[in-house]
Amino acid sequence: MVLNGPNLNLLGTREPEVYGATTLDDIAQALTEQGDRLGLIVDLRQSNHEGHLIDWLHEAGATNITAVILNAGAYTHTSVALRDAIRSIAVPVIEVHLSNPAARESFRHISHISPVAAGVIQGFGARGYALALDAAAAMRQSAR
Ligand code: DQA
Repeated sequence: MVLNGPNLNLLGTREPEVYGATTLDDIAQALTEQGDRLGLIVDLRQSNHEGHLIDWLHEAGATNITAVILNAGAYTHTSVALRDAIRSIAVPVIEVHLSNPAARESFRHISHISPVAAGVIQGFGARGYALALDAAAAMRQSAR
């Protein structure tokens, strides 16, 4: 499951100098193809609502999926509820950011997700999602 938070539906037109020209549909298509090669089913979702992301994390926790790839957008920096949801499930969560928040404004330096994530990939643009899917495949392999 690949979960995307607020404003990521606007990728491609939103601050392209920061987030690039790739749209979320482009990312979904590339991940689906990559997933086919890796034997992983990719289910990409986006919501501007914190509660939807929490419900989807719970849904992931109730299934036998390999991993959740999560770009929580600005909720990364604000949401204790998302952190608690991740702690509430056994599925590993891989945190992804297109930009490198550590190199940006100080309010982006805090992530409530990182301490409870299996790993973090940030600063590589849309490619970060592909790196995260490779990481999920590797985790599945080592869990066998
Ligand atoms: C982001 C970084 C966040 O700080 C920001 O609020 C976003 C996108 C990224 O992918 O770089 O919405 O998560």
